[in-house]
Amino acid sequence: MRIGVLCSGGDSPGMNAAIRGAVLRGVEVHGFEMVGFMDGWRGFHEGDFVELDRLAVRGISPLGGVMLGTSRVPPFPDGKATPEALRAVAARMAELGIDAFMLIGGNGTQTVAELLTRAGIRAIGLPKTIDNDLAGTDYTFGFDTAVSIAAEAIDRLRTTGESHRRCMVLEVMGRDAGWIALNAGIAGGAQVTLIPEFPESIEQICDWVLSVRDRGRSSLVVVAEGFAFDGADQVVVREGLDGFGRPRLGGIAEVLAPLIEQRTGIEARATVLGHVQRGGSPTAFDRVLATRTGIAGANAAQEGAWGTLAGLRGDRIEMVPLSEIAGELKTVPADRYEEVRLTFG
Ligand code: F6P
Repeated sequence: MRIGVLCSGGDSPGMNAAIRGAVLRGVEVHGFEMVGFMDGWRGFHEGDFVELDRLAVRGISPLGGVMLGTSRVPPFPDGKATPEALRAVAARMAELGIDAFMLIGGNGTQTVAELLTRAGIRAIGLPKTIDNDLAGTDYTFGFDTAVSIAAEAIDRLRTTGESHRRCMVLEVMGRDAGWIALNAGIAGGAQVTLIPEFPESIEQICDWVLSVRDRGRSSLVVVAEGFAFDGADQVVVREGLDGFGRPRLGGIAEVLAPLIEQRTGIEARATVLGHVQRGGSPTAFDRVLATRTGIAGANAAQEGAWGTLAGLRGDRIEMVPLSEIAGELKTVPADRYEEVRLTFG
């Protein structure tokens, strides 16, 4: 069997470790041939791929980014999974001699994997995204690294903020789900954490900042890029569209900090962490998780368990049917938010 590995969507630390795990198990143990498409679906459309064997994946686990490149190029023309578009994918696979896909990606990619499966195309998913918003897995690889970087940023912002008696506002990624903000906020002891799932009013946010000042401290506010004020829309201050044709987010911190300053009289500064949180070497946790999902994905291919995602459930990797999770977003539940909200201010 010849398996095509393909990465789609934003990069996420751990992707290299996942590829290595899949290749060491798939090629060395199960005797598959494996190839890696360059830059996601672009490589598939253009027939741009590399052979993956033990030598090709040597020493890549600690490396950030992904050796194959990734992109948001869609698998289907116009992004639509019409019957013709699905037949075209199957025909292209036959031309390239590919029997199955291993798709490394987040929500969009795993939804595609499910559509392919329904059309009779063999696909297995590996769960990557720094956002951790993929259903069917307790954690996605890349998330732990992003949280660690964001927590370090909080630690650093706190010392300069305290020195100047300023309110420091840190923006982290998370368009639809606030997992990075939530966990980094807990790790760094943020006084306020704002996430897309639970809008808050500017009055409430300022009350929290003032109560911190009344205790003689300076506030550290973490805000996820997808946060919107109560009753308002998400703030779009960046130009252009993202790879899915949606307005690019980012910049809420630059809106929030001046509002806090005007309303409380406390000097405030904004920091947008941006792609720093997606870069660099994966944490040991992400390397282990990614490697294990790669191994499990290769084993699933050997067993013919197509249409499944290698998800972490507790401390076990389980192959979860893609039909159970496709299109489902894993957001922060109310009890997890309440747990921290009660400590704000
Ligand atoms: O999906 C991962 C993610 O990092 C989101 O948190 C963020 O909104 C988006 O990608 C940024 O995309 P890009 O790298 O295209 O700017």
